[in-house]
Amino acid sequence: PQQSKWQVWTEENVRSTFHKRFAGAHKGTFGTGLLLAGSDEMPGSALLAGKGALKSGIGKLTIGTSRFVSGILAGQLPEAMYKHDGLEAVGEGDVPKGIKACAIGPGLADAGKTDMALQHLMNTDLHLVIDAGALKKRTYPKRKGLVILTPHPGEFSRMTGVPASDIQKNRFQYALAYAQEQNAIVILKGRYTVLAFPDGSLIVNPTGNAGLAKGGTGDTLTGMLLAFVSSEKDVKPAVANAVYFHGASADLWEQTNAERGLLASDVSEHLPLVMKSFE
Ligand code: APR
Ligand code: MG
Repeated sequence: PQQSKWQVWTEENVRSTFHKRFAGAHKGTFGTGLLLAGSDEMPGSALLAGKGALKSGIGKLTIGTSRFVSGILAGQLPEAMYKHDGLEAVGEGDVPKGIKACAIGPGLADAGKTDMALQHLMNTDLHLVIDAGALKKRTYPKRKGLVILTPHPGEFSRMTGVPASDIQKNRFQYALAYAQEQNAIVILKGRYTVLAFPDGSLIVNPTGNAGLAKGGTGDTLTGMLLAFVSSEKDVKPAVANAVYFHGASADLWEQTNAERGLLASDVSEHLPLVMKSFE
């Protein structure tokens, strides 16, 4: 295995890299993100990811999803804009103008359409957060924007062909090898999420608890990552802080509630309070 500089992302790391918004900011300061998520049988993925993005301070958010799903979401996330059949539109080359980053995958069920959309997105300079239904075995081209992959061990197994049990025994090595091969940031999730970067560095996240072991919490993280890469200049602290706050929010919740009752939406609800203690 490659020798690498790895570090645990500590409270002090967050404190020195996370800052209060400057008083003269406007929504354009924090970037517009596009979220391609949700399908008729998994509408909640788009809702959870969208809420994660908005509660993390994204400037503007457009959710590209089916008409059925936008109908469900609009009342619950009125702050977002909606692009009807956004996945199909992007797949035909219609990528909205003025956006900084795109997250794709939560709750997407149509692999063919997802692939078509990704092909067009790869040809842009947008930062891409690729999750869930958009993760599979493929090679990523050299491009200007970042490629951020957020697999859980099962998804990482699907991407690499390595059994999940082997991955779990060598999380650092597998994440790092893939990050360097594909020139992508790999966020290998689970207890002590590992963040591997193409430059060979590794970050380990100390926050989070078993309350997060529940469908939907990964979708929340994807939305948070979209917000942080849209609004922050420095990539490494942006992604590390998103993962840190996601876990820290679950930890705060767990101080007064039983882990098992944690919902993905509770993670988003508690984010502002968690971030307040770092401003
Ligand atoms: N300790 C700390 N963090 C944990 C723990 C734990 N014991 N268990 C889970 N987590 C965190 C992970 O690190 C990750 O951030 O919770 C999140 C879970 O994300 P996913 O595994 O992606 O789960 P989720 O997306 O919510 O599942 C919904 O989407 O990705 C697909 O196949 C997946 O069907 C599933 C669906
Ligand atoms: Mg997931």
